[in-house]
Amino acid sequence: TAAPVTVTLTGAGGQIGYALLFRIASGQLLGPDVPIRLRMLEIPGGLAAAEGTALELQDSAFPLLHSVEVTDDVTRAFDGTNVALLVGARPRGPGMERGDLLEANGQIFGPQGAAINAGAADDVRVVVVGNPANTNALIASAHAPDVPAERFTALTRLDQNRAVGLLAARLEVPVGSISDLTIWGNHSATQYPDVFHARSGATPIVDLVDERWLSDEFIPRVAKRGAEIIAVRGGSSVASAANATIDHVFDWVNGTGESWTSAAIVSDGSYGVPAGLISSFPVRSVDGAWQIVQGLEINAFSRARIDASVAELIEEQSAVRALGLLPS
Ligand code: NAI
Repeated sequence: TAAPVTVTLTGAGGQIGYALLFRIASGQLLGPDVPIRLRMLEIPGGLAAAEGTALELQDSAFPLLHSVEVTDDVTRAFDGTNVALLVGARPRGPGMERGDLLEANGQIFGPQGAAINAGAADDVRVVVVGNPANTNALIASAHAPDVPAERFTALTRLDQNRAVGLLAARLEVPVGSISDLTIWGNHSATQYPDVFHARSGATPIVDLVDERWLSDEFIPRVAKRGAEIIAVRGGSSVASAANATIDHVFDWVNGTGESWTSAAIVSDGSYGVPAGLISSFPVRSVDGAWQIVQGLEINAFSRARIDASVAELIEEQSAVRALGLLPS
């Protein structure tokens, strides 16, 4: 059998953690033959929940689960880690301004980036789920100068999956028939789900839906789906967020086919997105690395929406730079 792979999960005592851990341990994150050495990071207030979950992991007798360790020590948590799932974050509290939120999260993701820089394995891959995900990933990456910036990503796969699910329901086709949809920009309400290159089977999606439905229903519904789930379910998206995290890492490690997916990765300047920003792009995973799909034609409808979301990312970047959260 293969050597165990060390997976670190932050926020391991939280809701997404609970929905993720059993799927990680069952082999769905990396593949059915890869033993997992699990590190669960929490803050002191979350340790008991994480320890309880660790007991349940033991009670599940997962053959692939090599070991489980619960800790509140950031250095220990990332020592030798190959895959870091950064889920734990500071939610917006009552009366908290956006600057306070960015700062509070900077205090989390800066030290975690530094710990990854100091102790993670050479092949470390990082996905940030905790919000504001793109900017948290930017902060973590800035604190890890020895780790290639391409290894720090933020999750937009949930947005991608939501868009595919809604489109499939609208067109009454199986989700598997839909390909090459793209989420651009920030994991926020400004994100842009782009169907202009997407197909259902061989049929372009734009032949099947009209522009009014796209702009008035589809795009806002994808962007506000998180709020819709809260309104209907009485709680935030948890299992679907965990599911998207699994999809993101599985595809990154095991590769995508011809069809692409979406992930927020560091920009190289493609599609007019300033280099260095962590923005969602159409991506394929080739030989274990994300590559931005090149050469797509961007029409005016898409251009305006991509630019608006990227403008928000630039603003967040300026705000955290002003707060001193981006050492350089
Ligand atoms: P939760 O509040 O149930 O769990 C978060 C956990 O993180 C808590 O147990 C908390 O103690 C822990 N935590 C806080 N600071 C920490 C630190 N410095 N180190 C380690 N652990 C820490 O929240 P939930 O529902 O699990 O969501 C987690 C995050 O994921 C939130 O920021 C949420 O906004 C975000 N999210 C992102 C999505 C995406 O698509 N990118 C989708 C859904 C949620």
